[in-house]
Amino acid sequence: MIFLKICILVVTLSLAVLQLAHCKTKSNEFDFFTFTQVWPMVACLKDRSEEYKCHISRNVTGWTIHGLWPSGGRSSKGPTFCNNSSKFNESAVEKLLPELDVYWPNLQSETTRDDFWAYEWSKHGTCAKLVKETRNEYLYFKKALDLFQQINFTGILTDIGVIPDDNKLYDVLNILNKITPRLSKVKGVKPRLSCYKYKEQFYLNSVIICFTKQFEMTSCLPTPRDNRLYFKSLKDIRKIEKVENLVNNDNLISCPRDNLVKYPTIRYD
Ligand SMILES: *[C@@H]1O[C@H](CO)[C@@H](O)[C@H](O)[C@H]1NC(C)=O
Ligand SMILES: *[C@@H]1O[C@H](CO)[C@@H](O)[C@H](O)[C@H]1NC(C)=O
Ligand SMILES: *[C@@H]1O[C@H](CO)[C@@H](O)[C@H](O)[C@H]1NC(C)=O
Ligand SMILES: *[C@@H]1O[C@H](CO)[C@@H](O)[C@H](O)[C@H]1NC(C)=O
Ligand SMILES: *[C@@H]1O[C@H](CO)[C@@H](O)[C@H](O)[C@H]1NC(C)=O
Repeated sequence: MIFLKICILVVTLSLAVLQLAHCKTKSNEFDFFTFTQVWPMVACLKDRSEEYKCHISRNVTGWTIHGLWPSGGRSSKGPTFCNNSSKFNESAVEKLLPELDVYWPNLQSETTRDDFWAYEWSKHGTCAKLVKETRNEYLYFKKALDLFQQINFTGILTDIGVIPDDNKLYDVLNILNKITPRLSKVKGVKPRLSCYKYKEQFYLNSVIICFTKQFEMTSCLPTPRDNRLYFKSLKDIRKIEKVENLVNNDNLISCPRDNLVKYPTIRYD
């Protein structure tokens, strides 16, 4: 009897250990990458309303990278800070610095040049190691720069006649509809645009594009995992409709009802 009890205890304990190990690896899992670019002038607008100062170097003349983020997985937001011992190492990306300075600049003037890269690396880059193409620091930053070149949002906007202008209002839904076929050949896959409200005026803030772990463009929501959840039973059909609605309406984030936004020129100081 005592033996049986001990045995059950041991089995329970080992199950717990197994589960713990399972949870631990699972928590770093993700489903897709979110790649975000920002319009630096609007990023600065935001920053200027807060405590830190913003500085745009004269080398920065177009859209810039915010980050490449492992997304989805167990928490829909994706894993973060997957290895705090893995510190950002500038020498590892030395060859990329000329490009990083211009396309992935740190706009906060009260922090060092490396701070933004170091933060993005610790928070997101360390979680991208599970994917071969982003398995180390150099490859992670290189991949983000490659995606940036591949997408060239500054060029796409210029092509459709959307040029920074301090006196003009642009229709963000119209922009979304025009850029979609230029960005993606995959039917139904749409980029997302986000707006930022500052002093009662809305501004074009960022473009968000999602990629599979093989770096094919994909929808940001729902993830395959979410789909499995929603397709469990026919009773869930209403939930499925809900998710699809969300996807259709979710491509404009925090934008105004009339869709009119500013796209200001970059000012250097
Ligand atoms: C701007 O670009 C020039 C030429 O590539 C370079 O010498 C300079 O260091 C850059 N400045 C900054 C602030 O990145
Ligand atoms: C890693 O660092 C982040 C940010 O400083 C912190 O929030 C998190 O708790 C740390 N994780 C561990 C496991 O120490
Ligand atoms: C975390 O990073 C350190 C330093 O780069 C490395 O030695 C270690 O193997 C990493 N741990 C995991 C679980 O990848
Ligand atoms: C930083 O990167 C360089 C170049 O890849 C490498 O030689 C060096 O060992 C790295 N330093 C650390 C602390 O990992
Ligand atoms: C984007 O395209 C424009 C031309 O439309 C070009 O001037 C610019 O250098 C390109 N940017 C990148 C990062 O390739």
